[in-house]
Order: sequence, then C-alpha cells, then structure tokens
Amino acid sequence: MKGIILAGGSGTRMYPISKVYSKQLTLIYDKPLIYYPLSVLMLAGIKEILIISNEETIPLYKKLFETGSALGLNIEYAVQSAPNGIAESFIIGESFIGKDNVSLILGDNIFYGKLSFYYETVKDFKSGAIIFAYQVTDPQRYGIVEFDRNGKAISIQEKPQVPQSNYAIPGLYIYDNEVVNISKNLKPSSRNELEITDVNKNYLNKNKLRVEKIGRGVAWLDTGTPEALLKASNFFGVIEDRQGLKVACIEEIALTKGFINKDQFKALIDQVPNSIYKDYLVKVLDE
Ligand code: G1P
Repeated sequence: MKGIILAGGSGTRMYPISKVYSKQLTLIYDKPLIYYPLSVLMLAGIKEILIISNEETIPLYKKLFETGSALGLNIEYAVQSAPNGIAESFIIGESFIGKDNVSLILGDNIFYGKLSFYYETVKDFKSGAIIFAYQVTDPQRYGIVEFDRNGKAISIQEKPQVPQSNYAIPGLYIYDNEVVNISKNLKPSSRNELEITDVNKNYLNKNKLRVEKIGRGVAWLDTGTPEALLKASNFFGVIEDRQGLKVACIEEIALTKGFINKDQFKALIDQVPNSIYKDYLVKVLDE
C-alpha cells in the first residue's frame, strides 16, 4: 500500500497567513498540522509516501522531511499546480503509485483515538475502495454518505444543501489501482475540480465501495477555520499535558513501529536542536 498526503488547496480562508505558507504547516499545539495525517499513515505501516502540494510549499516540506530516510520512510514530492481537486492526486501520483494500491489522506485532516478501523482495513485490503463515515453536526460542509435501513451505502453527495444524513466522509480513503484510470476519466465539477466524491460514486455504482462507520471514541477534527485550529491545539495540549505523551510524534512512531532501530533513533535525536520536543525524544529513548 502506497500513501499520498494531499496538502494542496489555496487555503485562502486562512488569510493573512496563507500569503506566506500553507495551512498544513501551521502549528497544532506543538507540531505542524501535517504531522497528524503523516502519523496516521505511518501507524498503518505505510512507508512509501508522496506529498503533493503547490510549487511554493513543496520546498518547505522537503526541508521538513527530506527523503524521509531518517524515519525509515521513503518520501517523494510532487506539485499540484492549481487546486484542481483531490482526485487529481492519483493522476499526479500515477508513476509513484505504479501497480500498487493507495491510501490518500488530506494534509489538513486530524484523527485521534482508536484508529484500528483504518489500520486493519489497510492490512486486509484487497480490491475496490474503502471510505469512512463520521457523524457530524454540519454535514453540508462535506461529502456525505446516505445509508439505507440495512446500513448499506446508497448514495454519496458533495456538500449537499439539504443533507440526507449526518455522515460526513473524512479525507481518508483506500483504493485499488483502478483509481488512477477512474480519476483520468473524470470531468471537472461545477467548482472546476476533479472530485473525490465522483471517484467514490464510480466505485459505489460498480458495487465496489465499502463504507465503514467510525464510531464513538475517535476524534476527526475540523481545521477549516481559525477557531477550529485553536480548538484542535487546545485538544492536543490537554491530552499531551495530562499524559506526558506526545500525539503524532513521527520520530517516536518510527521507533515503535520498527521503521528505525535505537541507534538510528539516537542519531536522529542528535540532529534535533535543544527544545521541548528534543527533551521528549530523549525521554522516549531512555524508556
Ligand atoms: C473535501 C472533499 C469532501 C470531504 C472533505 C473532508 O472537501 O471534497 O468530500 O468530506 O474534503 O475534509 P473540501 O476540502 O474540498 O471542502
């Protein structure tokens, strides 16, 4: 399974900071937002990752992660020249994906909690597509999925004005290799994007879409407004302060997942300047 993080979009809702850098690099409590989706892929055991962003921001991601080898990852980079939609990722990433399956996560999607629903599906995935459904109070802001009385997904819509359900589709998807061809044959939507919702509809119409409801105990946090970013920061501030454990600490995850050994972890710590973050990594090493 390959992984793609789409950290695109114009991010203009975050003006004025959007003039300088992208939302996915803003600090959520103590680390850049993109660390959270990256950690989700890593925890699922995905080591080959493509980061897609705009031309100005790619150099910043390269500075942040380099080749990924210090984390036992292989990180590649690609440019999305304009915000042409999520599904364009599979066209941009065609050669990176090769003949493999692919899981895409949006660079501004934060998940926290028991994510075994995702890790297990990645492990057991064979073919078709798997998406998730999460109950929210503001479904009109998302792609939504409607279920029949037996819990079978019957329709998918992008930001409907009158949503038929409260189940939003988070920006976390798993597809077989067909997704590349499906994306290539999409027509741009009214907002002039290649819609991930149209990809999902394609799988649904062919009866190849599985929709897993995400139950209680998992947080899927919004990052669409300054207020939402503040709430997310507070959320992780509370948890990290209470437990003394960092969430989405990619170095710690690389060690615990066995992507790197203790010596490599030590070498990595040596590169980190004195900081609270370094103190934490040292603590992880000592334990
Ligand atoms: C996109 C997708 C939408 C999905 C959402 C998740 O919305 O189009 O289906 O529910 O991401 O974050 P957008 O970010 O384009 O508003």
